[in-house]
Amino acid sequence: MSDHTHRLAQASPLTIKGNALELNTASTEQLQQWEQSLAADYDAIKSQKLNLDLTRGKPSTEQLALADALDGILAGNYITTDGVDTRNYGGLDGITEARAIGAQMLKTPIENVMAGGNSSLTLMHQAMSIAHFFGLEGPDSAWSKEGKVKFICPVPGYDRHFSVCQHLGIDMVTVPMTSTGPDMDEVERLVKNDSSIKGMWCVPKYSNPTGVVYSDETVTRIAGLGKIAADNFRVFWDNAYGIHDLSDNPVELASIYDACATAGTENSVLQFASTSKITHAGAGVAFFAASAVNLTGMKKSLSFMTIGPDKVNQLRHARLFAAEGSLLEHMSKHAAIIKPRFASVLAHLEEAFGGNDLGRWESADGGYFISFDARAGLAAEIVKLAGEAGVKLTPAGATFPYGSDPLDSNIRIAPTVPSVEQVDAAMKVFICCVKLASVRQALAVR
Ligand SMILES: Cc1ncc(COP(=O)(O)O)c(C=O)c1O
Repeated sequence: MSDHTHRLAQASPLTIKGNALELNTASTEQLQQWEQSLAADYDAIKSQKLNLDLTRGKPSTEQLALADALDGILAGNYITTDGVDTRNYGGLDGITEARAIGAQMLKTPIENVMAGGNSSLTLMHQAMSIAHFFGLEGPDSAWSKEGKVKFICPVPGYDRHFSVCQHLGIDMVTVPMTSTGPDMDEVERLVKNDSSIKGMWCVPKYSNPTGVVYSDETVTRIAGLGKIAADNFRVFWDNAYGIHDLSDNPVELASIYDACATAGTENSVLQFASTSKITHAGAGVAFFAASAVNLTGMKKSLSFMTIGPDKVNQLRHARLFAAEGSLLEHMSKHAAIIKPRFASVLAHLEEAFGGNDLGRWESADGGYFISFDARAGLAAEIVKLAGEAGVKLTPAGATFPYGSDPLDSNIRIAPTVPSVEQVDAAMKVFICCVKLASVRQALAVR
């Protein structure tokens, strides 16, 4: 976690070409000079006709190659340790070896874990559809029976979570992310007072996009929601980045399974994870973990949709990690590849905005993103300027429900796919665009 949070509140000098000056109190002439100088830099960048991309939150080719041994690893042996022929139909829960991987990732007993197909997003959509239309605890528990359904969405957050709600006609209620997780005072107030709130999205470790790891207190309070919320309330605990550490000394996320067991709220949380950003992103294994009650409800509906997951791929994954020694060893190879890219982004941000109020960011120790907050009203303009200068950024607003950031301030930076040199080049453009947009905004109100 960085100490940059809340930087916006502190007024300090802006440095442009060696001049330490105060943006808020600079004279109009000074602002004009900066504008001209930055506009010249910007035009020079534009003339280079760059083609760089900081939008893609997916593994780089080098990372994908770390799991290429998946290809052919079974060498004709398709049988699991407990004698299942993975080539055949069946086994809705997934094979034992794969469930063990999910159990390790989610710190949850194997009995509570299912291994599925290649996408946790699919499992999340299925879980939400089942809770909505059929009920995880039988038809009387179906959310749709009660009319209007609302979901709590910490913001900024993962756009595809919001799309799932939108697809099912579920209203989204936003709460701010803080440096310890969602604003829990607000979450508790909302669920206490509104029984149409049926759940909440969470990315508890290296949150997409802010990189925040939920504190132990936040985890405990989330586990406690089951005591104050509607009976059919479910937290969607999407632990997509649970083992995606960059630091050698990663922050530990408390086990939500243990916290719910202590609180007696086992039915209130559904957990998800996958190997998408561990092995081959489009050909991984996804996991679902939940109480026995929820597993029964989920499987009842899933059995209408599938005879079973791709067990051959599950076995390939189990054999890969067994051959390598450990899952965490595999993750350290990912860290070695992407760390320099994150370091480049952070070094550029620190150098340009470390001493001024033009932006703030959380410096994640893992995950896939760095979230940058520009001065209010500037995100769309910065994304546009960068795009015209050859650097593609995720559309402003994408990290908010309905693609609308009320402050127009948040920009998600995804540095894993480009090379370190490309990240470095793209960040120079980004910095120039942030400064130019900020100076122009300051001038516009003179
Ligand atoms: C928070 C989060 N959850 C889920 C996913 C997608 O996971 P999967 O590939 O398992 O569907 C992503 C991908 O970016 C993500 O950021």
